[in-house]
Amino acid sequence: MADADRYLTSRLHGFGTTIFAEMSALAERTAAINLGQGFPDTDGPAAVAEAAIAAIRDGHNQYPPGAGIPALREAIAIHQQRFYGLAYDPDTEILVTTGATEGIAASLLALCNDGDEVVTFEPYYDSYAACIAMAGAHRRVVTLRTPDYRFDPDALRAAITDKTRLLLLNSPHNPTGKVFDREELELIAELCVEHDLIAVTDEVYEHLVFDGEHIPLASLPGMRERTVTISSAGKTFSFTGWKIGWVCAPPGLVAAVRMVKQYLTYVSGAPFQHAIAGALLLDDGYYSAFRDDLMIKRDLICSGLRDVGFDVFEPAGTYFVTVDIRPFGEGDGAAFCRSLADRCGVVGVPNVVFYDDVDAGRSLVRFAFCKRLEVLDAAVSRLKALKK
Ligand SMILES: Cc1ncc(COP(=O)(O)O)c(C=O)c1O
Repeated sequence: MADADRYLTSRLHGFGTTIFAEMSALAERTAAINLGQGFPDTDGPAAVAEAAIAAIRDGHNQYPPGAGIPALREAIAIHQQRFYGLAYDPDTEILVTTGATEGIAASLLALCNDGDEVVTFEPYYDSYAACIAMAGAHRRVVTLRTPDYRFDPDALRAAITDKTRLLLLNSPHNPTGKVFDREELELIAELCVEHDLIAVTDEVYEHLVFDGEHIPLASLPGMRERTVTISSAGKTFSFTGWKIGWVCAPPGLVAAVRMVKQYLTYVSGAPFQHAIAGALLLDDGYYSAFRDDLMIKRDLICSGLRDVGFDVFEPAGTYFVTVDIRPFGEGDGAAFCRSLADRCGVVGVPNVVFYDDVDAGRSLVRFAFCKRLEVLDAAVSRLKALKK
């Protein structure tokens, strides 16, 4: 038994330290450029930061309401209507959470019974597997395959059994950068309706879309009433450390998730809620400038990584790009990432940790490009030097 598992519930045996913590520690130890973990190296709008400071000065420092402050729930409702034409009642259909992470955990803990199955796509964000396990459920994964990361409709049909409780979807998708298109979402919706599944959607990258458009699964026919839509402010406003997220769903589903949330964190950070309530109402100019800025970074890193000699899967959304290292003469992404900091002072993440089918992810590596242009330039130069 691994030492870490000695006292740990058997539900979590084998999960280990998240790869992000390991790679960030490696970056720190070696003073490498950290393109591993997905956090921006510049803060979000100063006015939003000032609003959080003002909220602290104004005395918003004690427990806020468990469901979230009314102004934030109202702003989330306005946001869903403004961008997607989806109407949610701020009092009964919206819950503020401690980041999307808590929204995902609370949803799985609230909605799964022991032995239920959860269908999701791999590669998957690492908290999904752990939360499914903590909920006593089992994951069934459908593989998104390079180069376009489409899925086999028959594989999705086959993954659904009479034990399936819910389908967990992430779009725009980390780590692939895939944005599920309408045709794919229609098939997912059709199967959810046919098998009476709940859908839980993780849409934290909803405003980081460069090609195509983000379509919430809840906006498809038959889905509004069975979908728990989760998002957060971290990515959209570049305040990943504030951990303000939310859940939008019909009253019964929100009530179930709220029941778990009250015993996990009870409430979420009061001053940040005030600031994000204002941020969500920023005009379209903010959202489009943010996206345009990231798109320049995407284009820069993709062309740089191509020059290095990797096979680059250009992301349609998110701030991650995945490369295949085989054309570069390497095959093992995990070994490559563990040695990269020492070899050239750059850190990435091996995608294999996001796969059950390790062969499908073995040679793939993810780089985050939510960094200043000069940092991305430096990272690309260092990687190019590796080639020589
Ligand atoms: C797909 C996905 N979901 C959820 C999260 C976490 O969101 P939050 O920081 O709001 O908890 C991340 C962060 O990297 C993510 O990539």
